Amino acid sequence: MDEHDLADDPIVQLEAWLAEARAACPQADAMTLATADLQGRPSARQVLLRGLDARGLVFFTNRTSRKAEELAGNPRAALVFHWWELGRQVRVEGSVEEVGSAESDVYWSTRPRASRLAAWASPQSHPIADRGELDRLYAEAEGKFGAAPVTLPPFWGGYRVVPDSIEFWLHRDDRLHDRVRYRRSHSGWLRERLAP
Ligand SMILES: Cc1cc2nc3c(=O)[nH]c(=O)nc-3n(C[C@H](O)[C@H](O)[C@H](O)COP(=O)(O)O)c2cc1C
Repeated sequence: MDEHDLADDPIVQLEAWLAEARAACPQADAMTLATADLQGRPSARQVLLRGLDARGLVFFTNRTSRKAEELAGNPRAALVFHWWELGRQVRVEGSVEEVGSAESDVYWSTRPRASRLAAWASPQSHPIADRGELDRLYAEAEGKFGAAPVTLPPFWGGYRVVPDSIEFWLHRDDRLHDRVRYRRSHSGWLRERLAP
């Protein structure tokens, strides 16, 4: 990989790699999201990329979940994509902001009804007694809405990771892998090659 073949804007480059990953890999939009609590203790989990533009990378979740609580206290995150079939990894680091309810609603309306009911039913990341409690909460949500539209819960929405660093990693069989990192500066994105 020659860093001069990469786009000047890392978001444009990420869009290009994502398009290739979607054609080659199952679940290309899955990314590891790392957050940390106020003591600096990290936690990580998979989420799905649901939006990407010049502003950043968007995922959706429950705002009372562990990740949301950590982001409320410490609004910084790291994301990692790994596309095994392409030998590619992308690392993103940045600050995190809540996506407004109008924008969350646009995505919400694309979710199947059962997924919307499940979002209402699940007190994500909180202990529950057993599977039966989850089934009961789901039935409660079904009863609450009946045949009516299942509206956006006030406790659910999007988060946007606004990148200040994006690194592209490409496997090489000789293990001298390519790494190119972009960092945001006052004058735009700076690009540098890192040792593997
Ligand atoms: C492939 C994959 C995709 C996932 N996507 C999401 C997602 O987009 N949003 C979400 O809230 N949880 C998603 N999950 C579940 C999370 O990994 C996690 O279990 C959940 O969000 C609770 O995390 P927390 O307790 O750290 O907040 C996904 C899990 C997998 C395996």
